[in-house]
Amino acid sequence: MQYVLATMEDLPAIRKLLARYHKDTIKPEDMPGGFVTTKLSDEQFEDLIVNRKGVTLAKDENGEVKAFALHAGWDYWKQVPIMQRMTEVLPDMPFEGMALDETNTYQYGPVCVDVSVRGTGVFETIFKEALKLYEDRYPVMVTFINQINPRSYAAHTRKAHMTEIGKFDFNDNHYWMMAIKTKAEE
Ligand SMILES: CC(C)(COP(=O)(O)OP(=O)(O)OC[C@H]1O[C@@H](n2cnc3c(N)ncnc32)[C@H](O)[C@@H]1OP(=O)(O)O)[C@@H](O)C(=O)NCCC(=O)NCCS
Repeated sequence: MQYVLATMEDLPAIRKLLARYHKDTIKPEDMPGGFVTTKLSDEQFEDLIVNRKGVTLAKDENGEVKAFALHAGWDYWKQVPIMQRMTEVLPDMPFEGMALDETNTYQYGPVCVDVSVRGTGVFETIFKEALKLYEDRYPVMVTFINQINPRSYAAHTRKAHMTEIGKFDFNDNHYWMMAIKTKAEE
């Protein structure tokens, strides 16, 4: 598996994977494996990919996209309503004694791993790649997980070693807020 930043050529493959696991288009039998809720227009994807270098991919030996992780600062994410809500509640959720805000955190997610490579370490690796990219810019990375997505919670706590720092509601859904330091303790 190769881990690379996406270019616009990868957008159709990213969209295909996103559609497969998006709550609006996922097959009922895939739901227990987790789902995502974020929607981005082509223009928003172009800004993320081209200007922010904000999409990491896992590609197999045939160049097929098997996983993606999105990541960017809040100046990008605040256009997405749930992320705007995250910036409002973050200051009430300190992490390891640190007050969090838009200046010392960035947001990773959604992340999607194709069912064919789940549980193989692809998730851990793409997560680490997304963390490493920002270690010189932000001390903490945060994300949100829907409380009806236990697989994602298990993966992010047990495999990615993220910590739950609080809960918040948005549009009648209940979410966990998760955090991790971008650099391991010296
Ligand atoms: C969430 C996701 C990225 C995790 O990647 P993954 O490769 O499946 O993760 P892993 O298999 O390494 O780890 C998942 C863990 O959850 C456990 N798990 C599986 N189903 C579970 C469930 N219903 N409840 C609780 N834990 C569950 C697995 O056993 C595994 O833990 P273990 O290896 O210690 O046994 C992937 O499943 C995915 O893309 N799902 C669809 C989209 C999604 O939900 N994205 C995240 C949105 S926040």
